Amino acid sequence: MIKGTLILGSSGQLGTDCMSVLPEAKGMDLPEIDIANRAQCLGKLDSLQPAVIVNCAAYTAVDACESDPVCWKVNAEGPKHLAEWAAATGAFLVHISTDYVFDGNKPLFEAYTETDKPAPLSEYGKSKLAGEVAVLGGGTAAAVLRTAWLYGAQGKNFLKTMLRLALQNPEREIRVVNDQFGSPTWSLTLARQVAAVIDARATGIFHATSEKYCSWFDLASRFLERMQIPHRISPCTTAEYPVPARRPQNSILENAALKRHSLNLFGDWEAELDAFVEKHRDSVMIEVKRLLK
Ligand SMILES: NC(=O)c1ccc[n+]([C@@H]2O[C@H](COP(=O)([O-])OP(=O)(O)OC[C@H]3O[C@@H](n4cnc5c(N)ncnc54)[C@H](OP(=O)(O)O)[C@@H]3O)[C@@H](O)[C@H]2O)c1
Repeated sequence: MIKGTLILGSSGQLGTDCMSVLPEAKGMDLPEIDIANRAQCLGKLDSLQPAVIVNCAAYTAVDACESDPVCWKVNAEGPKHLAEWAAATGAFLVHISTDYVFDGNKPLFEAYTETDKPAPLSEYGKSKLAGEVAVLGGGTAAAVLRTAWLYGAQGKNFLKTMLRLALQNPEREIRVVNDQFGSPTWSLTLARQVAAVIDARATGIFHATSEKYCSWFDLASRFLERMQIPHRISPCTTAEYPVPARRPQNSILENAALKRHSLNLFGDWEAELDAFVEKHRDSVMIEVKRLLK
């Protein structure tokens, strides 16, 4: 039995960093716990009795969500099960959500705050919004942290995809969308932010992204330059790069609630990205090169 913190999705990108920031925590993942399976999930929580639950578990493949109803089971019903158990026991629940709860129609470059009305465009965004509603309406003390454009050392992300493409063939043109704007966020900083929210037992919705914003093209360019990888990267529009799920054009979030609580830990996205490269350049190179073999 644990009385402390339980991190769900603990081998994912954010979950791994939460485990490093909260070393006393217990981590769990599929198949040991399946948050989408109510009976199994509640039974597991009953046996563990955590005082704090951090839910990093999610179905995060945005395009696959368009055609896979399992995303609703994980992203909407999963958090509902956690909130149900937390309400019954008094546990504190921290849940992670996304910028994709917004439609992105706010004028560029005005940032979304926590009081803006969500209007998701994609199944991923809709299922994540349903998860937020379940957590905040579940009658438990809970914090929902909406993050965006997450990258970290563990797992798959956009930066590693860019690196793989550039290493595969430095001569090949890589086209990257230059008309969607957001704030790339390092999962390690987000994990520290989660810890600060737990310490403060702060409740409600919190936007939780790096400061300032850029396009996907800007992000890819800066990353490959900092990695010192030769590349041919060029900008394109959303229309020129069709994918199954619609994404918001304006994904910029303002951490207004974190700042109001004097809890905001995020720096500018460029400085965060540079620090990530400094820390993880070698391990990321080794991992991506291994994938190419
Ligand atoms: N990645 C982004 O760019 C981004 C942007 C905005 C918001 N977010 C949000 O940030 C959070 C963390 O994202 P991430 O990038 O760290 O995700 P991730 O790397 O995909 O990790 C998700 C974790 O959840 C686990 N999981 C999936 N279904 C589960 C289930 N039914 N029961 C228990 N565990 C399950 C996965 O296990 P398996 O690997 O075994 O499937 C994985 O360990 C998510 O809530 C996500 O929606 C992410």
